[in-house]
Amino acid sequence: MDQPFAALSQRFASRFGEAPAFLVRAPGRVNLIGEHTDYNQGFVLPLALEHSVRIALRPRRDRRVRLYSENFQQWVEFSLEKLEKAQGWGEYVKGVAWALQEEGYTLQGWEGLLESQVPIGAGLSSSAALEVAVARAFAAVSSLPWDGKRMALLCQKAENEWVGVQCGIMDQMISALAERGHALFLDCRTLETQQVPFPSLARIVVMDSGTRRTLSHSAYNERRQQCEEAARLLQVPALRDLSPQELDQRAARVRLDQVLYRRARHVVTENERVTRTVQALQAGDVAAVGALLNESHRSLDQDFEVTNQALNELVAVAWEHPACYGARMVGAGFGGCAIALVKEEATEAFMEFVRQAYTQRSGYRTELYPSHPEQGVECYSGMMDDRRSR
Ligand code: GLA
Repeated sequence: MDQPFAALSQRFASRFGEAPAFLVRAPGRVNLIGEHTDYNQGFVLPLALEHSVRIALRPRRDRRVRLYSENFQQWVEFSLEKLEKAQGWGEYVKGVAWALQEEGYTLQGWEGLLESQVPIGAGLSSSAALEVAVARAFAAVSSLPWDGKRMALLCQKAENEWVGVQCGIMDQMISALAERGHALFLDCRTLETQQVPFPSLARIVVMDSGTRRTLSHSAYNERRQQCEEAARLLQVPALRDLSPQELDQRAARVRLDQVLYRRARHVVTENERVTRTVQALQAGDVAAVGALLNESHRSLDQDFEVTNQALNELVAVAWEHPACYGARMVGAGFGGCAIALVKEEATEAFMEFVRQAYTQRSGYRTELYPSHPEQGVECYSGMMDDRRSR
């Protein structure tokens, strides 16, 4: 049992008077490459972070769920007989219960403690981690078979239909299916996956720019509409269906508007960069992976136009350090985080450099989260060293 689980178990024992029956962990994530490709039915390559959501729990005899969030210092309590919508973090818990019951599963009640180390609001999927952890907790107490892909889809349904956020499938899939030391190649059309080994001598450093997207929803939706419009004009089901050469030929034929052309070019070249990154990882060519991250950033900046000044400065600072293989903004953009791929042994020096140089140049402070690719959701039962199937 790792240290955070040991500490959480102890806190559980002092609150509930006995050891937890189950311990569940589900990770946050970051996308190595493949930005703004998911809703174009393209490719993504996320990896799970060491920063996780953890739940210690025990079954209840009735059909109530009671969960205390240590982060929010707040209880959420509800009956599985009567799920009612409200506001707040508890909706992710209830939403998962709702989606599992909709699927026909018979659920048992439980109670426990929840701790999250996934920064909230930084684009690292704290909500998907919570959903997957809660699904795993229900599966444990209700003796449900655990099928990661199926459960990820139900967690997405909870977020889409109960919480009301139209997210794609990437976040829940990686939290449920990640394997330690690997990134997960995901085809967002077919939902086929492939585990891709991550270089053992490199580290991912997530770098929070300290800025948040203000334009968020309108600009994100605008990009989505532009991509759909470009696909329609280019007469393909989705931008995923075009190679860079085909894009150029068709764009010339239909005299595609310059802005739509640049949006499409980002998506089409980004899909290609994802497949090239998979090949580079398989060949153990970390320098090539870094170069692809840099190209991705330039494309997001110039063609897709979803960076901001702070993100550009942060990435430029990272690029300057000799231990950095490559860096780019991640997520929707207009603020939030970037990532750097860094030589393992120089991680501390790299982080120190970025902290100082970024603040000097931008006036913002950065939070840095170094990580290796972590295992997806895990559940331990009883005496804790008895590791349950994932
Ligand atoms: C947001 C969305 C994701 C994806 C990214 C961009 O984070 O939630 O589904 O579209 O933007 O890659």
